[in-house]
Amino acid sequence: MGINIKVPASTANLGAGFDTLGIALNLYNEFYIEESEEDEIITIPKNSEFENPEKNLFFRVLKDVLKMYGEEHRRFKVKQINRIPISRGLGSSASVIVGGIVAGFKILDKNLDDKTFFDIAYRYENHPDNLIPAYKGGFITALKDGDKTYYQKLFFPDEIKFIVVIPDFELSTEEARKVLPENIPLKDAIFNIQRVALFISALQNRKYELLKVAMEDRLHQPYRKKLIPEFDNVIRNAYSNGALGVSLSGAGSSIVALAKENFDAIGKAMVDTFSKVGIKAEYKILEKDDRGVYLTED
Ligand code: HSE
Repeated sequence: MGINIKVPASTANLGAGFDTLGIALNLYNEFYIEESEEDEIITIPKNSEFENPEKNLFFRVLKDVLKMYGEEHRRFKVKQINRIPISRGLGSSASVIVGGIVAGFKILDKNLDDKTFFDIAYRYENHPDNLIPAYKGGFITALKDGDKTYYQKLFFPDEIKFIVVIPDFELSTEEARKVLPENIPLKDAIFNIQRVALFISALQNRKYELLKVAMEDRLHQPYRKKLIPEFDNVIRNAYSNGALGVSLSGAGSSIVALAKENFDAIGKAMVDTFSKVGIKAEYKILEKDDRGVYLTED
């Protein structure tokens, strides 16, 4: 008997909502876990770097959970299907962490409350704006205050899709945070607060013409864009092909456009902009995921 776990990708920030907003997307990493004699992990696509149980993040999280309850002697065979591109700002590590925690609690047949979830998840990464969408699904606003996390699900209209352009270079969140300043001017803080509130209410009221202004940002993108060649042109060309709002996805390197139509035209325009400077990229048309982590048994 095995457990199958699907965990969604997520896009955080959405422009102005830096370290605050995140939404789950219908692109999933999948984990199949069976009790076994030896620890073993197979990754699809094959990546030998991730096939060492002592280094594999999913396995480390799973073992940590078991250790909390004195069950670390148990051994597992895991098949990990990685569909979420790695280090591209789409919450791949959040999805693996959520998968490991949920698998551990299922194996132990224990209830997982939010506080326990966050206590474990934060040992690995500090981004509730990816972790919560991966866990709970939907569009969320989150904040971490000391050891407490507060979050709420927000309305997000079904008709808006996400065109995500994924360039073929990785950008670690660590690297993308190093370029941020320690302090920012008050006027930039005001600029962003106003836009986050406008973004949430524009979605609620379906006033999509406001999304372009609402997704402007002065807290992270102006600093991070030097790490992403053609950033401004990709954004400009997404808008000229009908995007409603465009931003860096999480810490990058992907860029996400929100749109109600012209999905392929927007995706192609973004890919072409990267290819003009010799950067290979692909685009995916995604939708919001409302379910979050999903577990089945066979
Ligand atoms: N809000 C975080 C950041 C998300 O932008 O650094 C990391 O994926």
